[in-house]
Amino acid sequence: AVAGLPATPPMGWNSWNTFGCNITEQIVRAQADALVSSGLRDAGYRYVIVDDCWSAENRAADGSLQADPRRFPSGMAELGRYLHERGLRFGLYSGASDKTCAQFLGNRPGATGSRGHEAQDARTFADWQVDYLKYDWCSSESDHDDQVRAFTVMRDAIRGTDRPIVYSINPNSGVADAVPGEQYDWGGVATMTRATNDIAPVWSTNAGPSGAQGIVDIVDALAPLASRVGPSTFNDPDMLVVGVDGKPGLTVAQQRTQMSMWAMMAAPLIAGNDLTRMSTRTLGLLRNRAIIAIDQDQRVSAGAPVGDDDEIWTRAVGEKGLVVSLTNRSDHPRTMSVSLTSLGLVGDATVTAIDAWSGRRYQASGGELSAEVGVDDTVVLQIV
Ligand code: GLA
Repeated sequence: AVAGLPATPPMGWNSWNTFGCNITEQIVRAQADALVSSGLRDAGYRYVIVDDCWSAENRAADGSLQADPRRFPSGMAELGRYLHERGLRFGLYSGASDKTCAQFLGNRPGATGSRGHEAQDARTFADWQVDYLKYDWCSSESDHDDQVRAFTVMRDAIRGTDRPIVYSINPNSGVADAVPGEQYDWGGVATMTRATNDIAPVWSTNAGPSGAQGIVDIVDALAPLASRVGPSTFNDPDMLVVGVDGKPGLTVAQQRTQMSMWAMMAAPLIAGNDLTRMSTRTLGLLRNRAIIAIDQDQRVSAGAPVGDDDEIWTRAVGEKGLVVSLTNRSDHPRTMSVSLTSLGLVGDATVTAIDAWSGRRYQASGGELSAEVGVDDTVVLQIV
């Protein structure tokens, strides 16, 4: 683990999926209050991350980054104070370019990015008591060496402040076809690295690596990258789309699968829904204790598929614990089975497992663990 940084995946809320560029300090405060009142803060969701469009179009006279005065009239230091007073942590967004990714949204110039101003901006973030920096690419150039340079310069700038700041990078923006977050291991550079393009609240786009990504597209893209994960170093499969409106929208089973698989991947759990008007069902999905415990397991070892079966994953937890997930990607409910041998549990006929979602107990029989799994749903079996 890196001193001062969380060893286990960061958890929190990010403004982008629901509010995009329509973000204001009132909205952020209301979301922070909802994190507290809903119990999500106490369940572990502590980072409140203000994504793109908080910064003014121009820098201040002394060259420093400044907040958009209409959206954040009280300033970012004040917002940081508000969050810290409530036991929350403060996240901000910038990018390794002149203009942030809002430039890609058409008729928007984009907010000010940090390229060429890294040391000054890192000092500004530290002055504002920022705990988490999401640092985007937002350029159509994807020269590998240039990317490594740009993301490393900001890493060093942050380190130079002596304030522990989670460094969350996305090397993919603007260069969708290359997906450098998938191609290169950025573990030495960042705390967490986006490996795919922007998530959409859909099950699958079948679009391959470019374009928007659905839940299972991202799961499949990250499956081969498990070895990159360790204490304070995570793959970032992007934000949770639990409780986020979409067309046609996700089923509860599909949302349960997202929570399950993000936990199997030891991924950051960053909610993106409007916390001020979430249903009890959404809250129940986000706050599930057993799933969060798996995600936050101290061993910080990411799961991976069993053999080449993309529906069955295992993850090692604790000293010698094991979790097995069964995702039913077919169009009908079915009984799914996994052999004890494939789990390395040879000859132990007395294996019992508990589903993290339902609490149901399963007993192995005939050398297999079996469970009935609904369409697009996931059963998360904790071997006991
Ligand atoms: C990129 C990122 C998103 C979000 C937007 C903001 O698309 O991948 O997560 O930060 O930029 O413009």
